[in-house]
Amino acid sequence: LGSRPLRVACIGAGYVGGPTMAVIASKTSPDAVQIQVLDISEERIAAWNSDRLPLYEPGLTELVFGSRGRNLHFSTAIEDGIKWADLIFVAVNTPTKECGIGAGSAADLTYVELAARQIAAAADTPKIVVEKSTVPIRTAEALGAILEACGRTSFEILSNPEFLAEGTAVRDLCEPDRVLIGGNLETDSGRRAVETLTELYAHWVPRERILATNVWSSELSKLVANAFLAQRVSSINSISALCELSGAEIDEVARAVGLDARIGPHFLKCSVGFGGSCFQKDILNLVYLCESFGLNTVADYWRSVIAINDWQKQRFTARILHGLYNTATNKKIAILGFAFKKDTGDTRESAAIDVCGNLLQECAKLSIYDPKVPAEQIWTDLTRRCRRTRDELAHYVTLAESAEEAAMNSHAIVILTEWDEFRTLDYAKVYKGMCRPAFLFDGRSICDMKALSQIGFVCYAIGSPV
Ligand code: NAD
Ligand code: UGA
Repeated sequence: LGSRPLRVACIGAGYVGGPTMAVIASKTSPDAVQIQVLDISEERIAAWNSDRLPLYEPGLTELVFGSRGRNLHFSTAIEDGIKWADLIFVAVNTPTKECGIGAGSAADLTYVELAARQIAAAADTPKIVVEKSTVPIRTAEALGAILEACGRTSFEILSNPEFLAEGTAVRDLCEPDRVLIGGNLETDSGRRAVETLTELYAHWVPRERILATNVWSSELSKLVANAFLAQRVSSINSISALCELSGAEIDEVARAVGLDARIGPHFLKCSVGFGGSCFQKDILNLVYLCESFGLNTVADYWRSVIAINDWQKQRFTARILHGLYNTATNKKIAILGFAFKKDTGDTRESAAIDVCGNLLQECAKLSIYDPKVPAEQIWTDLTRRCRRTRDELAHYVTLAESAEEAAMNSHAIVILTEWDEFRTLDYAKVYKGMCRPAFLFDGRSICDMKALSQIGFVCYAIGSPV
C-alpha cells in the first residue's frame, strides 16, 4: 500500500455494517484507514448521511458525526467502492430461507452471493474479502468459487463473524471479548490477509484478544456462540415455569446458580422469550447443518431451545388471559415495550409481536407504547403477524405517546420489554387511572411485586410463584 491509507469497504449498511465501520473509523486516523459503507438501499444510505441515523444505538450518533466525511463515507456507488477498496467486509443480511429446500431453517444466502458477484464483476485489483455476515459453515468455499470463476483478479477470503449485541453495539465493538479471524493459515497470502485484518483491529483491540483460526472453525463458532447464549435463556425460562408452580423465585435461583464461577452470572435473566434477528435464525441454521450431516439427535437438542422459547411466549399469553377471567374481548390492555430488548428500536422476532398477535386473536384492545420503536414498524409487524389490514387492526390497536397514556382506563398492563423507564414508572399514579381490578403482567420480571401489590395491583411476574 506504500504510504496511503488502507481502503476498507463494507457491503451492507445495517445493524452490523454501520456501527462496526463507525467504530473502526473512530479508532483509526484518516491517514491510516479510509472507509466506505455501501448499500443497495438508497433510503438507508440517505439516512446514514442525514441527522437522523437509520437505527437507534446508544453512542452511535456521536461516533458517526465525529467521523463522517473524514474517514467514514456512506454511499450507494457499490461498484466504485469495490474497485477502490483493498479489503471488503460483506455484512449483508442472511435471513432464514422462506421457500425451497431447507425452507424454515436453512440460511438464505441470496444476498451474500449477490455481494460476491458484485465484487467479482467490479474488482480489478487483488482484494481481501471478509465474511462479516453470519453464515453456515463452508460458505467461504462457495464465496471463493464464485469469485474465482467470475473474477479477474485474486481474492483472499477471511471469516470475521460479529459478536456485538444490539443496544450495546458501540461498547461491544470498542471492547470486544474477542475478535475472531478465520483464514487460510497454510499459505503466505492467507497469513498476510489475516495479518492485515489483525492490524486493523489492533488499532484498539489488544492482540491477545484477536484469535486466528481456520475458516471453518470461525464460521461455526459464530453459530455455536449464539446457540449457547439462546440455550441459556431457554434454560432459565424453562425453570421460570417450575418456579411459578413450586414457590421458588426465578431471580433468586438465577443468582444462586450464576454465582458458581463455572456457570457465571450473565444471560440468566428470565423473560417472555428471546427475540432479535439472529438467535432463532442461527439455531435453525445449526439444526439444518446437523440434519444435513445426519446428526438428527443433535438437531433435536438445539431445536428444543426454540420450542421452549415458543412455549414461553404462549404460556405468558395464556397467563394473561387466565388472569383476565378467561376473556380479553374488548378489554383495553396497555402494552409496555415492543422492541425485542431495551435500548434498541429493533423489533425483529420480538416476543411482543407474538404476544400482541395472540391477544388480538382474543379481540383485546391494545394500547402500545415503546420509547424507540417507530409507529410504522409496529403497524408493519402487527399487520404481518395478524394477516389483517391496518384499517382492520385500527379498531383494536392504538399507539400511545407514553406509558401513562397507554395505561389510562386499561384493565391490565403487560410489560414486554425491560426499558428502564418501566422500572421507575409512578405506578401509584398509573393505578388511579385504571379499571378495577387493575392487573399487571410483568414479562421481564423487572417490577417490585410487593410494592405493586400494596398499591392494589393484581400482579403476575414471570418466574414468581403464582
Ligand atoms: P440488516 O438487514 O440490518 O442490514 C443488511 C444490509 O445489507 C441492508 O441494509 C441491505 O440493504 C444490505 N444489502 C443486502 N444485500 C446487499 C448487496 N448485495 N449490496 C449492498 N447492500 C446489500 O442486517 P444486520 O442486522 O446488519 O445483519 C447482517 C449480518 O450480520 C447477518 O448475517 C446477521 O446474522 C449478522 N449479525 C447481526 C447482528 C445484529 O445484532 N443485528 C449481530 C451479529 C451478526
Ligand atoms: C445476540 C448476541 O448476544 C450477540 O453476541 C450476537 O452478535 C447477536 O445476537 C447476533 O448474532 O445477532 P442481540 O440479539 O442483539 O445479540 O441481543 P441479546 O442481548 O443477545 O438478546 C437477545 C434476546 O435474548 C433478547 O430478546 C433479550 O431480551 C433476551 N435475553 C437475553 C433474555 O431474555 N435473557 C437474558 O438473560 C439475555
